[in-house]
Amino acid sequence: MNAITVSPITPRIGAEITGIDLREELSETVVQQIRTAWLDHQVLFFRDQDLTHEQHIAFAGRFGEPHIHPTVSHHPNHPEILVIHADENSKNVAGDGWHTDVSFEESPPSASILRMTEVPPNGGGATLFSSMYAAYEALSPTFQEFLEKRVALHQLGKLPGHRQEVTPPSALHPVVSTHPETGRKVLYVNQGFTKHVEGLTREESRSVLQHLYRHIENPNFHVRFHWSKNSIAMWDNRCVQHYATWDYFPATRRGYRVTLTGTPSS
Ligand code: SIN
Repeated sequence: MNAITVSPITPRIGAEITGIDLREELSETVVQQIRTAWLDHQVLFFRDQDLTHEQHIAFAGRFGEPHIHPTVSHHPNHPEILVIHADENSKNVAGDGWHTDVSFEESPPSASILRMTEVPPNGGGATLFSSMYAAYEALSPTFQEFLEKRVALHQLGKLPGHRQEVTPPSALHPVVSTHPETGRKVLYVNQGFTKHVEGLTREESRSVLQHLYRHIENPNFHVRFHWSKNSIAMWDNRCVQHYATWDYFPATRRGYRVTLTGTPSS
């Protein structure tokens, strides 16, 4: 296998990859092609990939070190895997709000690779992805300059499904970070975990963050992925936020996520 096909879904974010079977041992050339497409398009989608957990972990391992989630319980036999599951008994689901995975860590994950094995029979359960390059670039230069000097506190709140610790894990990150591989600027606050912009009053911080959260919701920065059984989304957590819709209750939706470690934000 020497070539994959990369089909962009929007000019700003998202591409589908075809011509590849992820169960096979991938050549270094193909891994580099996927990495280049991933850095260019921020989130990649693959279909019809009937992987075992071991194959899923092995594929992810070609792009970095698996990350063990600090506060969410993992698959009983595979600490690298988070189980994403919702059914008729669910009171909440993972990720149904805009967020960046685990941004309350000093070095938030670089990538998340989610494989869906059960999808609701009548549709629904799509995941939305928002480009934080596009969100940053759409701000006025004056507001960009104001935000570039700011740092924000990210902290785990009382989220269902997360182990609560006496001192919730937290980290400070620049409000505008620089992607370590592409060098592009990224708007880096999310309503899942960002608590406060340092140096502003509570009211000022709240107004700035609310404005940015509304801005991030602009559909012009988004791609929406409709899952099918054995499809995979691989997103760059350093420049993408995502939102798992929950419009399919009481149907069942199930998937498995492998996440990769990152480096400190800058
Ligand atoms: C998540 O990783 O936040 C869940 C995404 C999804 O279920 O679509």
